[in-house]
Amino acid sequence: MDRQIIVTGGAGYIGSHTVIELLKEGYEPIIIDDFRNSKPFILDRITEISGETPIHYSVDCTDEEAMMAIFEKHPNLLGIIHFAADKAVGESVTNPLKYYQNNVGSMAVVLKGMAKYNLEHLVFSSSCTVYGEPDQAEVTEDSPVREANSPYGHTKIICEKMIRDVFASGAAIKGTLLRYFNPIGAHPSARLGELPQGIPNNLVPYITQTAKGIREQLTVFGDDYDTPDGTNIRDYIHVVDLARAHVLALNWSLNQSQTFYEAFNLGTGKGSSVLEIINTFEKVNQLKLNYQIGERRAGDVVQIYANGNKAKEVLGWECEYDISAALKHSWEWEKGLE
Ligand code: UFG
Repeated sequence: MDRQIIVTGGAGYIGSHTVIELLKEGYEPIIIDDFRNSKPFILDRITEISGETPIHYSVDCTDEEAMMAIFEKHPNLLGIIHFAADKAVGESVTNPLKYYQNNVGSMAVVLKGMAKYNLEHLVFSSSCTVYGEPDQAEVTEDSPVREANSPYGHTKIICEKMIRDVFASGAAIKGTLLRYFNPIGAHPSARLGELPQGIPNNLVPYITQTAKGIREQLTVFGDDYDTPDGTNIRDYIHVVDLARAHVLALNWSLNQSQTFYEAFNLGTGKGSSVLEIINTFEKVNQLKLNYQIGERRAGDVVQIYANGNKAKEVLGWECEYDISAALKHSWEWEKGLE
């Protein structure tokens, strides 16, 4: 009973994989997810993989009353891993208020609930988008937080500041910010993975849908950047490695005697270009992808990858999978989807 942890967005892409890893480590995740960006069958898959059925509430995380009722009902909570948020960069540009209302609004409710119910441990889903266009491609946690390239990015910066300000006010909070680079891949069982809504924004789901014939052709957004092959460079990280980092972050937080506010980069430390991702996908899955080179996409950072030393040294986190494994798992997952 004393290993209970709330996981908002626990039916989502990273959330569901984290729930699996938490269960493996003997935690008791309590999922809050209203399926706006997931599907109920994901919960069945969690049970199928883990043999356990976590408690689940279908609640909007900005609904303060409903959220407080959940905290009230579970008096032995350790804290919260807060994933729930809208995440489509392009949509955030056309509908910014949706992003401010949901992402910032739910963060406020989570922090209020933590104060009211004396919950100490918070692990927050942040993003490398907080570094904006960095001076150097490799970023450490001390690299400056810059103007992000979208309202979505701004909400991540604001949420980080909210946690910092609450910490600075003297609240008994242990706040861990996990700054994700580009999560890809799926559970090796091919029973859990990403469920993009509509036309995917992100590269890998677009690739797998093109390979499956759902999309006709992939467009590479620009090959005239100042990088070795002219395409953008990102740090693609397997979702299971990312999920494991959340468990290690929680373990570490539980071992700290003082309150803190700490950010960690979660990336492999290795940059890959768009063309490298395409070529690797073709090679590991032995197929040809229909793609063309197109115009640059507005707002794309030229290149960014993590310096992941802090997560390695402090949390003891190591990546198990490379992009080949991740792109194989993404394809296995896509093939199994109806
Ligand atoms: N890309 C294409 N074609 C596509 C889709 C993407 O060429 O159809 C390219 C992009 O131009 C970029 C790379 O693939 O160079 C990766 O693009 P994604 O959209 O998959 O990922 P981003 O790096 O743009 O976005 C990610 C996260 C966001 C976060 C952002 C911060 O998805 O949540 O990093 O930089 F805000």
